[in-house]
This record gives sequence, C-alpha cells and structure tokens, in this order.
Amino acid sequence: MLEISDLSVGFSREGRFARVIPGLSYSLRRGETLGIVGESGSGKSVHALALLGLLPQPPGKVLGGQAIFRGEDLLTVPEARLRELRGGQIGVVFQDPMTALNPVLTVGRQIAEPLMRHKGMTRRQALDRATDLLALVGIRDAARRLSQFPHEFSGGMRQRVMIAIAISCEPALLIADEPTTALDVTVQGQILDLMAELRERLGMTMIWITHDMGVVAGIADTIQVMYAGRTMERGPVEAVFASPRSAYTWGLLQSLPHGARPPGGRLHQIPGQPPDMFNLPPGDPFAPRNPFATERCHVEAPPLRQVEGSVPGHLAAAWYDLPALLERAR
Ligand SMILES: Nc1ncnc2c1ncn2[C@@H]1O[C@H](COP(=O)(O)OP(=O)(O)OP(=O)(O)O)[C@@H](O)[C@H]1O
Ligand SMILES: [Mg+2]
Repeated sequence: MLEISDLSVGFSREGRFARVIPGLSYSLRRGETLGIVGESGSGKSVHALALLGLLPQPPGKVLGGQAIFRGEDLLTVPEARLRELRGGQIGVVFQDPMTALNPVLTVGRQIAEPLMRHKGMTRRQALDRATDLLALVGIRDAARRLSQFPHEFSGGMRQRVMIAIAISCEPALLIADEPTTALDVTVQGQILDLMAELRERLGMTMIWITHDMGVVAGIADTIQVMYAGRTMERGPVEAVFASPRSAYTWGLLQSLPHGARPPGGRLHQIPGQPPDMFNLPPGDPFAPRNPFATERCHVEAPPLRQVEGSVPGHLAAAWYDLPALLERAR
C-alpha cells in the first residue's frame, strides 16, 4: 500500500539547518494499522506532512527519498495530483478540528464538497451521502445537523465530523495525527472504537500518530517508535510490548501503568528532555538519556535491524542487549 524509503526532511531556523528526519524507511501492507509513537519533536507530524505534500516549504524541505503509494511517488507527483489523492484515496484527520473545519460553512457543505470534487456527485447526492456519513460516525439526527455550523458541535462531535470528511471518499489509506488527543478519555475511547469499526467495514489501511502507548495497544497491528526523526524500534505490537529492545521503547512502556493499558497513559516519565534537533549529540541520539547506554552508543548511531530471536519484522536500533541488561538489573 505504501513503501517509504529513505525519506529525508530538513528545517532551517535562524540561519541554521537541521535534518529533522535523516532517512526514514518503512512499508505498510494493505489493511495494516501502523501506530507511530514518540515524544514531542520526534518527527511524527513532519513525516506525515511530507507524505501529504503539506510541509511548510520553507522553512521545511524534503531532501530526498521516495514514498510509493499504489505505484506513484507522493514526493514527486505534481501538486494537482496530490490534491486529488488527498481527501480522495488518502484521508487525513488532524488533531484540531476547529482549525481544520471552516467556521463559516455548514457541516453538510464541508462533507459534501469532497464528494462532489472527488466522486463527481451532484449536490443532492453528496448531501444525502453526508447524512449517511454523519450517522455512520455516530451523530444523531444527522439530516438536521447538516445545516449547522462547526461551533454548534462539541469537540468530540467535531472530531467525528472530521472523520466523516476523511472517510467520505472511502480512502484506501487514512493518516490520523493525534486525532483524539484533545478529547476526554471517554470520547477518545468512543472514537477509537468507531475507527476500528470503520477500518473493518471499509478495509482501510491506517497510520495512527499518537503520544499514547495505550492508544497504540488498542488500535495498531504494528508499532513504530520514533526519536529524533529516527525509528528506534518497530514491529508487531504484541512482540514489541512483550519484549522491547530499545531502551527508549522500554522507557515509554514503563511510563504506563502495568496490566491494563487504557487510552490516556501518556508518555512523560523518561528523565531528561527530547533532543534539540539543531544540536544533536553524536551517536545514538537517545544515549544521553539512556541508563543502559554503552560507550559505543555515544559515538556511533546503531542501525535499525531485525531483532535476533524475535518474530520477523521486529526491528530495533540498539547496540546493547536490553533483555539481558534488564535481567541483570533485577
Ligand atoms: N515550522 C518549523 N520550523 C522549524 N522546525 C520545525 C518546524 N516544524 C517542525 N520542526 C522541527 O521538526 C521536528 C519534528 O517535529 P514534528 O512536528 O514532526 O514532531 P512531532 O513528533 O509531531 O511532535 P508532537 O508530538 O509535539 O506533535 C521538531 O523537532 C522541530 O525541530
Ligand atoms: Mg505532531
């Protein structure tokens, strides 16, 4: 469905330049849900914006790489084609529905517009479909609510409207960036259930970006842990949760309550600060905060490779043997 190879993105700030994503590669199978986690500034949003052609350029710049979506390279297709894909075959949900929705247009019109643009529907057909979509995302009295404006909806309801817009054209791929972060835990749970149901019904492939390991556990097949624009660990959720191999992943998991991991377990208990991308340490960027770091970690960045003795596709970037170190520390 999607094959990203060596995506590299830079940013300039005050006359300085940083490679905030030095070379990201991953692929996504049809129907797979990928959960991308990592602290603030790890490059989660920047990588998604680069894929969607929405990176602010300047100060950002895509420096290289490929992102093949159904045979087309998203990084080099013409802007017009990308616009056609966005909202059509690729649905997008961002964190803040108030900035993404147009305050002066009715909700009905905003759902109908992509259907008219991408699916060639008449206004009447699109509004009928919009009613179905609002009902599908769990908004009651849908026909009446079509003529209302975004401010007449609660935060959770607005996020549902955003989801209705994102799925309106039955996208093959849905990219969601912190779609539930602004919502309270109960509403967050409802939206997650809704997404899981829609994924089944529409056969969608999803990229779900979040701070929240609990959300990843609930919705993703595959987890990708990012730090300083790099993948520190990636693999099937069960394998990574059961035996993390990057100390960063381990730290994120430690910050959650043990046993049940409900949505809401946020990541903020790793000592130290996320790195300044304009002033990265040499070697493994997590080394300065890593209690298990070896001398080598401070001088040479570890490659991302298959974890020995784990399931295929469980990859980690670490010079040390975390399970052995944890065993010894016991
Ligand atoms: N407009 C910008 N100008 C300069 N640098 C930027 C800009 N936007 C992002 N960056 C840089 O890109 C890096 C990655 O940012 P990104 O927004 O992808 O982080 P994130 O993982 O999405 O974080 P969060 O969890 O806070 O959303 C940041 O560390 C920052 O240095
Ligand atoms: Mg972000």
